[in-house]
Amino acid sequence: MVRQEADVEVWQDPLPPPYETLIQKAKGMDALLCLLTDRIDESLIAAIGPQAKVISQMAVGFDNIDVAAATARGIPIGNTPGVLTDTTADFAWALLMAAARRIAEGDKFTRAGKWKTWGPIDFLGPDVTGATLGIIGFGRIGQGLAKRAQGFDMRILYFSRQRHPEAEQKYGAQYVDLNTLLAEADFVSLHTTLSQETYHLMDDARLKMMKRSGILINTARGPVIDPGALYRALSSGTIAYAALDVTEPEPIRPDDPLLTLNNIVIAPHIGSASFQTRTKMAIMAAENLIAGLKGNRLPNCVNPQVY
Ligand code: DGY
Repeated sequence: MVRQEADVEVWQDPLPPPYETLIQKAKGMDALLCLLTDRIDESLIAAIGPQAKVISQMAVGFDNIDVAAATARGIPIGNTPGVLTDTTADFAWALLMAAARRIAEGDKFTRAGKWKTWGPIDFLGPDVTGATLGIIGFGRIGQGLAKRAQGFDMRILYFSRQRHPEAEQKYGAQYVDLNTLLAEADFVSLHTTLSQETYHLMDDARLKMMKRSGILINTARGPVIDPGALYRALSSGTIAYAALDVTEPEPIRPDDPLLTLNNIVIAPHIGSASFQTRTKMAIMAAENLIAGLKGNRLPNCVNPQVY
């Protein structure tokens, strides 16, 4: 789609371009199609040049982009909301189930040839059906998780910057303050954006507010959890288990202490990774880019103030 509209230079390496290379390559471009692994900060935006017409991100999250700097230069930023809601909510649900029912641990055990018999108290975990789910951040994906939890007869609590009365009705969800949610939930799932407000939201103090049997799920952004605090909580039994699709840093380093623990399952940021959804995200990113190049309003723009 993009090649039909413009001359295109594509970064071919599977690893992201080093920052300095990205700056050099971005210089003089009219448009930039980027991934969440690219740091699009003020210097980079300045380096593109005054001809820059659009920055199109192939993701719904855009915490890697300095939106204020782009807005100040009148550059619209596109993202891909909506199309990944169900896919990511499915994945959050998969992580919740994997943690509760210890699927990754069971798989490692089986592959290691340790499965010798059926043990009445082997691999016990908590029931999901009928348990209490606490959802922090009740946007599209948080609500998608509530929808799934309804089918498991869960009590659903949520905390969010604003209340969502319609969704409360639809999913039988109850708005509570953060401390109540942490104290009462058997499962706590994070669905906030990453901002100054949510950076290390789950720190030592908040992890201590969770039940000792509590399970923490993160499909939002890694830095919403303080990784040191999570290690302390998991290794001391302050909480029972964690299931992460996102980490700080990303990728997690091979020597990260979290990887020494058995009571955690970690996926490599694949919440939206279905064939259908990644295709839709790519198309949306291309549509935003092409609209920007033509001087049209982006179909999905995160900084409409530029218009
Ligand atoms: C996003 O879109 O922000 C996800 O993290 C990746 O799909």
